[in-house]
Amino acid sequence: MNRSARADSVYITPSAHYTGYVWYRHRLAEPAFATGFGRFAHGVLAPVAWVARVGFGLDVEHFLLQRHLLIDARLTEAVEQGGVRQVVEIACGLSPRGRRFRVRYPDLHYVEADLPPMAARKRLLLHGEGWLDSRHQVRSVDILAERGPHSLEALFAGLDPQYPVVVITEGLVNYFERPLIEDFWTRLATQLAEFPRATYLTELYPDLREHPHYRQLRWAVEFIGRLTRGSYPLHYRSHEEIREAFGRCGFHRTRVLDPSRESPGLGLRPSKVPTLVRVIEASVGAGLR
Ligand SMILES: C[S@@+](CC[C@H](N)C(=O)[O-])C[C@H]1O[C@@H](n2cnc3c(N)ncnc32)[C@H](O)[C@@H]1O
Repeated sequence: MNRSARADSVYITPSAHYTGYVWYRHRLAEPAFATGFGRFAHGVLAPVAWVARVGFGLDVEHFLLQRHLLIDARLTEAVEQGGVRQVVEIACGLSPRGRRFRVRYPDLHYVEADLPPMAARKRLLLHGEGWLDSRHQVRSVDILAERGPHSLEALFAGLDPQYPVVVITEGLVNYFERPLIEDFWTRLATQLAEFPRATYLTELYPDLREHPHYRQLRWAVEFIGRLTRGSYPLHYRSHEEIREAFGRCGFHRTRVLDPSRESPGLGLRPSKVPTLVRVIEASVGAGLR
């Protein structure tokens, strides 16, 4: 693994405070998840978000909500109809999903995982509220670690391979170049092959050159890259390319979901411009259905 990729990971962590604050603002999270830094970052970026929304119809928070709520909807289906009882949310940051799903489904085994400093922070937060127990845990992981205590192998060792599992990443994959993220997906698919049914849910920002605001999008992507002192590469030119890539990484079945098609079901108003985000549901074995 490349040393600078690991260094970049450290700079991604502060963005979790921003998204954490967005979930809180939209009543998806309890106040404990909103940090002072998240509120500050949201305030500082508000003028940029305003220009994107008013000038080009690109509503950043709407895109964030689309991905978050669609992943929630697919996870709900997996639990209610697919009999899933174990969930691993990698790069959990300050996501309130684990808390919300444990309140709704107390029997769910929910493992949140992130780089060690963010994992420590999340553990403290959840523990401080009395929300952690033997079925809701926070673990350290580094998706770039090929072996050792922070590897995927170590993370998955704590699960029961007799039962289906859902793995989630949100707000992670576009921070990495394709070879790195495909290497992670390949190692993930190897782990998931140990389970009778396994599904991976993630959002992905493809390189949609036909988008009416592609130029502004490139500018926004540069901007996010600079803020996180790295880059924010867009991956794949079409749904077909996405499916092929997941197939090469070892997933047997891949669906590419366009959240704008699902918006009414998610309780969101339809967007004025085509959405930039896709949600991927990739399965190993029998998958969700
Ligand atoms: C934009 S935040 C997303 C947080 C949360 N999923 C959400 O949507 O609100 C990105 C998260 O990725 C985590 N992260 C960055 N590099 C990582 C790595 N190599 N392994 C695991 N997590 C990583 C960061 O610590 C951070 O919490």
